[in-house]
Amino acid sequence: KDWNGTDKVVLRNPQGASARVSLRGGQVTSWRNEQGEELLFTSSKAIFKPPKAVRGGIPICFPQFGNCGSLEQHGFARNKIWTIEENPPPLNPNDSHGKSFIDLLLKPSEEDLKCWPHSFEFRLRVSLAADGSLTLISRVRNVNGKAFRFSFAYHTYLSVSDISEVRIEGLETLDYLDNLCHKQRFTEQGDAITFESEVDRAYLSTPNVVAVLDHERKRTYVIRKEGLPDVVVWNPWEKKSKSMVDFGDDEYKQMLCVDGAAIEKPVTLKPGEEWTGRLELSVVPSTFCSEH
Ligand code: BG6
Repeated sequence: KDWNGTDKVVLRNPQGASARVSLRGGQVTSWRNEQGEELLFTSSKAIFKPPKAVRGGIPICFPQFGNCGSLEQHGFARNKIWTIEENPPPLNPNDSHGKSFIDLLLKPSEEDLKCWPHSFEFRLRVSLAADGSLTLISRVRNVNGKAFRFSFAYHTYLSVSDISEVRIEGLETLDYLDNLCHKQRFTEQGDAITFESEVDRAYLSTPNVVAVLDHERKRTYVIRKEGLPDVVVWNPWEKKSKSMVDFGDDEYKQMLCVDGAAIEKPVTLKPGEEWTGRLELSVVPSTFCSEH
């Protein structure tokens, strides 16, 4: 059992890495390396009672990212109870081979259909590989009579040593929509992205690999993605942290959200069509990155 008595699933690899997935929200709530170090951030003030999603791990934002739309912020999927699916439609054999994994399923309830009248099947596979990397594969199928559109994000809370020592590589020179400036479009000027104040941006048409370098821990998160053109970068910094009830005043220093997402151009699915969005997270020592 996990938060608030909801069922959870623990994945382990033979080397001792692990991941925990809650059926509430299909949310990954923990990811640990072979040494048992937690790689995802969860707030010490997180609220485990529905209806709010727990502040940390990897909440799934679907079918709406943010608050630009008719739905609640970041959509309803992160607040729903998902079910375990024993025999999902097959994936590429490479997605199962040598991995520990779980398949979850979300279908809309009557209540969901009232606010978002589109029938879908959302399949999520979470897997942990022998090298400790974590992969999330989302498959959304339109089982409706009509086309629908959605936006999406894996709202990934990375645990970092000190936000001032962190930089993101792979987003240089790209355009982004700035949520702090009415979603105006700007072009990134810096060499790599570093942090000294609140950041809330959606970088557009990003490369499939982005790296988050944690200088102090000599650790680099490598984010590989497919079907997810955009990357959200979020750190609430000091003032906003104080305004969030489920977040510690100083915790902004220990976290950074870097989300593989599809936001600017929502995904359109015709009846019977399926979309796949794939995210792979791995960790390498920073020295490795600078040498290669
Ligand atoms: C980010 C958004 O992705 O999520 C922010 O860009 C938002 O604007 C943040 O504040 C947290 O959202 P929530 O709903 O989980 O508090």
